[in-house]
Amino acid sequence: MLSRLILASTLLYTFVFSPTTTRANDAIVEITSSGVLVHHASEESQQSARPSFALVEPLEITGRFLDDSQVNVVFGQSGDRWTASIETSPGTSLYGTGEVAGQLERTGRTVETWNTDAYGYMDDDRSLYTSHPWVLAVRADGTAYGVLADTTDRCEIDLTDGITFRAVGPPQPVYVLQGDSPQDVVRQLGTLTGTITMPPKWAIGYHQCRYSYDPATRVEEIAREFRDRDIPADVIWMDIDYMDGYRCFTFDPEDFPSPADLNKKLLDQGFRNVWMIDPGIKLEQGYSIYDQGEAADVWVKTADKTTTFEGEVWPGMCVFPDYTNAAVRQWWADLYEPFMAHGISGVWNDMNEPAVFNTPTKTMPESNWHRADQTLGGPDTHARYHNVYGMLMVQATREGVMKANPDNRPFVLSRANFMGGHRYAATWTGDNSADWYHLDVSIPMTLNLGLSGQPFTGPDIGGFAGNGEPELFARWIGFGALLPFSRGHTAKGNIDKEPWAFGPEIEATSRRALERRYRLIPHLYTLFREASLTGMPVARPAFFADPTDQALRTEDDAFLLGEGLLVVAQIQPARDRLVVLPKPIEGVEWRAFDFPSFDGGRDSKDPDQPALYLKPGTILPTGPVMEFVDEKPLDPVTLIINLDADGRARGTLYEDAGEGWGYREGDFLQTTYSAARTGDIVRVWVAATEGNRPRPDRALRVRLLHPDGKEIVDTGIDGKRLHIQLP
Ligand code: NOJ
Repeated sequence: MLSRLILASTLLYTFVFSPTTTRANDAIVEITSSGVLVHHASEESQQSARPSFALVEPLEITGRFLDDSQVNVVFGQSGDRWTASIETSPGTSLYGTGEVAGQLERTGRTVETWNTDAYGYMDDDRSLYTSHPWVLAVRADGTAYGVLADTTDRCEIDLTDGITFRAVGPPQPVYVLQGDSPQDVVRQLGTLTGTITMPPKWAIGYHQCRYSYDPATRVEEIAREFRDRDIPADVIWMDIDYMDGYRCFTFDPEDFPSPADLNKKLLDQGFRNVWMIDPGIKLEQGYSIYDQGEAADVWVKTADKTTTFEGEVWPGMCVFPDYTNAAVRQWWADLYEPFMAHGISGVWNDMNEPAVFNTPTKTMPESNWHRADQTLGGPDTHARYHNVYGMLMVQATREGVMKANPDNRPFVLSRANFMGGHRYAATWTGDNSADWYHLDVSIPMTLNLGLSGQPFTGPDIGGFAGNGEPELFARWIGFGALLPFSRGHTAKGNIDKEPWAFGPEIEATSRRALERRYRLIPHLYTLFREASLTGMPVARPAFFADPTDQALRTEDDAFLLGEGLLVVAQIQPARDRLVVLPKPIEGVEWRAFDFPSFDGGRDSKDPDQPALYLKPGTILPTGPVMEFVDEKPLDPVTLIINLDADGRARGTLYEDAGEGWGYREGDFLQTTYSAARTGDIVRVWVAATEGNRPRPDRALRVRLLHPDGKEIVDTGIDGKRLHIQLP
């Protein structure tokens, strides 16, 4: 490596010139101790580089670098934008770019980072709610690299001919992460931009929302229906109509007279709750939040730097906290203590692009003025801070939620966000529509967000805008129940869209889908643990199974949950479709399996449910169906096993209290199970244990998938060796 480090002389760098390229010959490439290449357009841009929003901490530069890797970043100028281009080799597939509609593979597409309220978005919408100036490139041979343009400015990401970033403002550093595989690069991204903290376990359950359940008695009714109908669910959501005239941090005195009582009634039935808060604060003297904010001078200003910006949102004219300022974030965070005291479990921050109804751009003017912290780059225009407005809001919200309930893990959902903002909030894919197109893009959108650092995400199941037909809902909940963030939601004025709303047949389908999720919670929770440690997404593209297999690169309808579980969704209205499956490994197939009724729920076979396949060599930990995640202890643990060609398999189960911070002090149990066949006997045992949490006294059931399609089922005691006699 040392021989590749060249000190100082910028003349030595090699560059490829494109017609629009200028100033390339004074570019700088540096290397960090962790092997990240940092490309700067010039010595000058390096000095003026602004603090990064995406990175966990500043990179420690260990030397200058002659870029003889195959990833050359060529800086240039195109009109008023600086550009950074990377030539890609034939057979390279591009992914990432955050929240984007359309296909999984992004090669050939162009998008722009500009957080936008994109109601009913379609393929050709260049900007949605969150921004990720990041591209993952997978070469023909399966090796990979990632490129991050560290700019919060409006930035076009053009993947029509290689990779080109075109951004306004002064040139910013471009980071290149290189890896043996896409997984390797995604993990490095986790190191660079941070990972999520472990969510409370209830947040991994199913969420039920609508705009809006109103009044409180309707919320109670919804909760009761779930329990009466035996449909698993953990969370009910309160959209904006709970507020008094859309004033944030207030409750409608008639419809929601006692939020604390409501939350208590929900909790008594095992339901957590999430309540919405928007950034737009009603401009109204006498409304305490407005008055406090006015006194503390917290609002975003117009271009003259002194007049408060006013814009219309739900309550009418509003003012907007300037989250780029630490004192304002502190003020905002402190608002949550009395709010959370009503027994609130989680917070939903919406409209934080920010959406503004009465401007031509549907957001603030770019000339608005932020009194930003010096550490963020100092006071500047909205153009510069637009893309991080939502992220800074949820950073403050999360602070406030944690301060209010220090013993609980925070759950915040945000509509807008930025690269690295997954550290503060989960996101969903915004206002989709109840049609087949939006059902179709739900999986690739979730996957590309995962490849861009955000593992905790998913669509509005059933579609937000419009009603949609029963079959659409059935298909959507079929696979939506297996995405990392699983929430049904719909807009005002639409028909009911709870799992039972479409009649008994779709209710049965929805129940099966959600029972599957709850049987898979032990595995999903284990994957969230992995995401929190390494940044690996919970839902991963099928090509992660074999990055060299070109056929998997465009597979949009299937996704992996972890390494070994492949979910093949039913997408099209017609029930049959061809999906590319990963190739057998040394002659052993990825084996299909399902959940039979003996597993504590109903038989999950049904054409609307995705097909499930287990990779050779995998042990998948599952549990019994529950009404909510911590309804009862995990007992029995059921291991579903597909042995590899050598008759071996392995799998991991992570468990902790599901809430609180004890796991950080070792209060968890991580079990690595192993299986091996010798002759006619398959042994299953605990190969390794981590954490201080004692193993519960519980049954262990094993379902061994057999090549002839049959299963061998046996039961023993968890922690003890199990010997299974093959027929
Ligand atoms: C827009 C959000 O995207 C949607 O989910 C929500 O229901 C409405 N705002 C009303 O709050």
